[in-house]
Amino acid sequence: MEKDILKVLVSEEQIKARIQELGVEISREYEGKNPVVLGVLKGVVVFYADMIRHITVPCQMDFMCLSSYQGTKSSGNMIVKQDMSVDVSGRHVLILEDIYDTGGSLNYTYHHLMSKNPASVKICTLLDKPERRRSGITLKPDWVGFTIPNEFVVGYGLDFNEHYRNLPYVGVLKPEAYQK
Ligand code: IMP
Ligand code: MG
Repeated sequence: MEKDILKVLVSEEQIKARIQELGVEISREYEGKNPVVLGVLKGVVVFYADMIRHITVPCQMDFMCLSSYQGTKSSGNMIVKQDMSVDVSGRHVLILEDIYDTGGSLNYTYHHLMSKNPASVKICTLLDKPERRRSGITLKPDWVGFTIPNEFVVGYGLDFNEHYRNLPYVGVLKPEAYQK
């Protein structure tokens, strides 16, 4: 697995330090609000598990799973494969995401949630790749772990064909690894 990595983009140490900082800010924001912390599966699982332990105020955990169906050439048509189980009406919701790329999935999640009449929805994404944003998408995350260049990354929950999610850092694949 390690041998397929061209370079480490964000190290384990960097992630750890940033999550501590985010934890302080997020905990301050949600003091007394008992938020629902929503993870969008499955890329977020590693970040979620680390982040939730740095949120020091009472909160509830929940998850949803999106799937994109590619009926036509243009991908990005999303469906909810598994919805949340908590009733978020009147609740404060914090969405945790692995990466904000073209923006399609986060926008879909955001609007899906807004239809459930929550008290508020905020977004924390570990990675942001602003160069890839689809035009017309204006939604801005409230917290970003790291802004990264336009490179395909794996590790720390992110995959290429379901591989590399268990790497402890965020790295860039060697071109030959795509051919496997
Ligand atoms: P979107 O393009 O912002 O809708 O991102 C959709 C999903 O694609 C993300 O939640 C990730 O699971 C995946 N994704 C986007 N960019 C990368 C990447 O660089 N590596 C691995 N997965 C990615
Ligand atoms: Mg994802």
